Amino acid sequence: MRHLLTLEHLDANSLNHILGLASQFLTPENQIIDNPQAYLASKTVANLFFEPSTRTRSTFELAAKKLGAQVLNLNIQTSSAQKGEALQDTLYTLQAMQCDVFVVRHNQSGATHFIAKVLGNTGHVINAGDGCHAHPTQALLDMLTIKQHKGDFSHLRVAIIGDVLHSRVARSEIQALRILGVPDIRVIAPKTLLPNEAEKLGVKVFHDLKTGIKDVDIVMVLRLQQERMHSHCLPKNDYFSTYRLTPDNLKYAKNDAIVMHPGPINRDIEIDTRIVNSPQSVILQQVTNGIAVRMAVMSLLVNPNL
Ligand code: CP
Repeated sequence: MRHLLTLEHLDANSLNHILGLASQFLTPENQIIDNPQAYLASKTVANLFFEPSTRTRSTFELAAKKLGAQVLNLNIQTSSAQKGEALQDTLYTLQAMQCDVFVVRHNQSGATHFIAKVLGNTGHVINAGDGCHAHPTQALLDMLTIKQHKGDFSHLRVAIIGDVLHSRVARSEIQALRILGVPDIRVIAPKTLLPNEAEKLGVKVFHDLKTGIKDVDIVMVLRLQQERMHSHCLPKNDYFSTYRLTPDNLKYAKNDAIVMHPGPINRDIEIDTRIVNSPQSVILQQVTNGIAVRMAVMSLLVNPNL
């Protein structure tokens, strides 16, 4: 594996290998271990974020530094891209600076594939979220979180609630859940926030929240991606009172269901603040797992024999 652009060509063994290595970077208390092996010593990781980010950018930076890499955070807003430099010339420039790993977030679906093509066989590209297409490391850290709580994937019911249409996270989550053998994957949303023929993604579609989350083990809530909504996607009836996850409708899931959200959360829009703060919420554990998973992905790209 030279790049990590999407999960679609990976199998269960590959995903489990990444999750296994990520687990080695965590203590039993789910903290990042002290002094992990310097798998990225003498390497340079370039963070190229053409879209805002808190979690992904910061955890890639922490992960790289913990593994001994140097990190270059290119500020796109103050870079020569603002003076008209073409993306490929920015990439050639970073190549000349001998960057080894390129962590890229972009608002255009497919941008990371383009970047991987420009870079050729020098460097490793990691997709940190491209448009509505894919966010593979988010899905991997979520699989690690599920594994920590539920152990086995083969009997799970998982519900994904909200703006599936614009969500790269949902697409990568569904791919990962299917690869790991989850038998019952549901999406719950109004028709206007679902892709056409959503069933073809390999999921069951529900429009009623209480029916959709009945007896599920995992509840994943998505953010309403207002920055990607080009038309009136929200139905006229009140989306928030119909699809917001509240303590009242969470009761329909299993008692030991966990609640996940990739962040950033919009409190009291897609998720009730009482759930964010409840023991069922694993949202901050997801963030910590993001460091471990990104350490594992970068280690494996740079050291394929690990
Ligand atoms: N989950 C996620 O991608 O969050 P950020 O946009 O803060 O990186």
